[in-house]
Amino acid sequence: MNPTEFPQRLVQALGPDTVLTAADDIAPWLSDWRGLYRGNAQAVVRPRRTEDVAQCLALCQQEGVPVVPRGGNTGMCGGATPDQGAANVVLSLDRMNQVRSIDTIANTMVAEAGCILGNLRRAADEAGRLLPLSLAAEDSCQIGGNVSTNAGGVNVVRYGMTRELVLGIEAVLPTGEIFHGLRTLRKDNTGYDLKQLLIGAEGTLGVITAVALRLFPRTGVRSVVLAAVQSPRQALQLLQLVYEQCGPRLQAYEFFTGECLELVLAHAQGVQNPFAQRYPGYVLIELADTADETALNALLESVVGDALERELCLDAAVSASLAQLQAMWKLREEISESLRAEGPHLKHDISLPIERIPDFMESAEARLRQSHGDVRPFIFGHFGDGNLHYNLSRPAGAPREWAAEHGAAVTDVVLDEVNRYGGSISAEHGIGQLKRDHFLHSKNPLELRLMRDIKRLLDPAGILNPGKLL
Ligand code: FAD
Ligand code: MLT
Ligand code: ZN
Repeated sequence: MNPTEFPQRLVQALGPDTVLTAADDIAPWLSDWRGLYRGNAQAVVRPRRTEDVAQCLALCQQEGVPVVPRGGNTGMCGGATPDQGAANVVLSLDRMNQVRSIDTIANTMVAEAGCILGNLRRAADEAGRLLPLSLAAEDSCQIGGNVSTNAGGVNVVRYGMTRELVLGIEAVLPTGEIFHGLRTLRKDNTGYDLKQLLIGAEGTLGVITAVALRLFPRTGVRSVVLAAVQSPRQALQLLQLVYEQCGPRLQAYEFFTGECLELVLAHAQGVQNPFAQRYPGYVLIELADTADETALNALLESVVGDALERELCLDAAVSASLAQLQAMWKLREEISESLRAEGPHLKHDISLPIERIPDFMESAEARLRQSHGDVRPFIFGHFGDGNLHYNLSRPAGAPREWAAEHGAAVTDVVLDEVNRYGGSISAEHGIGQLKRDHFLHSKNPLELRLMRDIKRLLDPAGILNPGKLL
């Protein structure tokens, strides 16, 4: 088939405003948020309807053309970036962005995959409900990408991962068949729960076109404290105190080191250090409830007082207004962007049994000091659910190529330590192309065989997101 024939067939089938074929139009769709990957594609398809997605996949399946599903392109593992192959088709869900329904009796929302997460959270709030999935990328990432990566975010400690929020999925399989699983029932025990295969599959088993989500009572009352801590060990002890005294009101428990705070103060706009001095580490704790602000603030004040008395933290700044609450969150949320501004760095999105975090941190730091003493750690993350972003930046003054030269050796040390402490090499970002080799070498062989069997069953021609995950 000549190189322009297939794109023209897509144009004929789907229309010229749905299919981009000119090189300049395709170019912006070929790289990832981190700038780690750049690929190739013969066309970009931006469907508005599920039927168009089905037609596109059926055509690609016939010709064995690889398809790369793409959401908001905020993924950290290159999952939405095509490889160098010239035949790729990027399928973007960005124009399937309608909220199909919000039901405040059943507390459900049905949204198309291309809906921006932040817009869905605002739509839920306007309806008097909470969609609890929240991450710093929420005004760019799409709900289809969130489901496809089983995203975590800052509220996992109370509401779980995206998986726990999904009631139903509509998707198109690689064959072009539409999977009509968009149920909003709380209970439906009729055979295998097939939607679970699509959650976290990173676009390798189906293209998600719509999602049915659980909604929760709006927690309009929030109170935040930024506590200074001496060490991860102290952060762990503080977590236990907060958990015991605040229970279900604990909505977020985020950790970041003093280096991360310095980085944000250096790169971000409109931020300031609420403390008069520097501390080794910080914990941002959010309590949230449906009512009674006075009681919630009093609870937080008493926990903080208790923690200071027991020397479970060095200092504490409690939010006295929404503006202060948002300013404290900004110190945490700006870390990723500030790291990107700092230049190439190694991301390790890891999870550990919570009680082993302090030992892991000490052991990994000791090993890295030996093998790569000058690497600069920027460690932060969702401590409350055991997920750390163990990110390491090139040594001061090292060339940008440092990560390319030393990255593999450094990552081997970190992930070896993660395995030693019984953790996971990918807590919430998925595998994509970034971690595929480590994944294939470390995953249990039976699990890998079953995953490959499922992939072969659902995608016999292997057209969906080849080279990612498996
Ligand atoms: P994309 O990056 O477009 O795609 C991600 C993967 O999903 C790819 O494999 C793609 O092929 C697939 N995909 C996308 N849409 C579909 C679809 N409709 N059907 C099938 N497959 C699809 N992640 C967290 O989990 N927690 C965090 O706290 C967090 N914080 C972040 C902070 C920043 C500043 C940034 C930039 C990213 C952060 N991320 C975080 C990573 C990223 O936001 C999540 O992985 C997010 O879920 C990706 O959504 P997306 O729409 O951008 O997907
Ligand atoms: C976050 O929690 O901000 C991201 O998942 C971490 C990262 O950017 O490494
Ligand atoms: Zn994260």
